[in-house]
Amino acid sequence: MTGVTAAPTAANLLEQAAAIADGGRQQQSRLSRWLATVPLPPEVAAARAEAIRSARGLPIAALAKGLALGLRWFPPGVPTSVHDHGGRWGVTRVLEGRGLYETWSRSPDGSLRCTSVREVGPGDVVWFDAATLHRQEGLDGGALELVLLERLPEHNFGDLGGRP
Ligand SMILES: [Fe+2]
Repeated sequence: MTGVTAAPTAANLLEQAAAIADGGRQQQSRLSRWLATVPLPPEVAAARAEAIRSARGLPIAALAKGLALGLRWFPPGVPTSVHDHGGRWGVTRVLEGRGLYETWSRSPDGSLRCTSVREVGPGDVVWFDAATLHRQEGLDGGALELVLLERLPEHNFGDLGGRP
């Protein structure tokens, strides 16, 4: 024995997340606490440059049952659209930089209005549930986030060599 513990892989982390998510009660707070302190898998450093270059969601691992882990770079001054994640939850942790996280609601007449704005920085974790409309934007030099999604978006299926 060397006494050295290998860093968990992204797949290891997803198995941990799946066990927490399957625990039912207080899923949101338990997953948020877990993501806030989890050691970063080696795939994060390996994917960092590509995530920043592409400025889109870049998956680093996904489970067949759906959970996916990825990186997302939010450039400064380029807000996302107001969106949800197709009825799925997600939780993000800021790894580098600063950003804005806004929540929005849709009025009966179909118009959108911003209901909260939060400035986030390294270590901050944000949860969104299946119904939460939100918009994000990088501040200053931009923000890099680790993102755990209930399900990998279909447009990312090709990013993991055909999985899931
Ligand atoms: Fe989002």
